[in-house]
Amino acid sequence: MRGIEIVKVGYDYAGAAGVVTALREVSFDVGASEFLCLVGRSGCGKTTLLNLVAGFLPPTRGEIRIGGETVKGHGLDRGVVFQDFAQLFPWRRSATWSSASRCAASAPPSGRRPHAAS
Ligand SMILES: Nc1ncnc2c1ncn2[C@@H]1O[C@H](COP(=O)(O)OP(=O)(O)OP(=O)(O)O)[C@@H](O)[C@H]1O
Ligand SMILES: [Mg+2]
Repeated sequence: MRGIEIVKVGYDYAGAAGVVTALREVSFDVGASEFLCLVGRSGCGKTTLLNLVAGFLPPTRGEIRIGGETVKGHGLDRGVVFQDFAQLFPWRRSATWSSASRCAASAPPSGRRPHAAS
């Protein structure tokens, strides 16, 4: 099964002082069920890349595919837990966050728990 394919992706922000190139020619694959951590200094583009994979931003250059399909916007097949405290409830456990996407996709409770545990 194909996972996530990031192909020569770039992203430019239109900043007040001009164009800010946040990402330039980023390419890598993530296999199905593979666990990946993005590590880098502040401002290197981690959040920008996550927003592109989530479909919240369109790539300026390149292409992102999930399961062979080009990402053209957000969808219930993806979930994002933002780093902002206002959106990351400290009382909620990781399994509950994971099952929340199945809840949003209207999966019955019996179908959520195995997904959250895997
Ligand atoms: N809305 C925006 N307008 C202009 N430039 C932006 C905008 N958002 C981010 N940037 C710039 O894009 C670059 C990448 O930012 P990004 O937030 O993706 O980095 P990050 O790796 O997530 O950083 P951090 O570790 O601090 O969360 C930085 O130079 C940042 O200043
Ligand atoms: Mg960030």
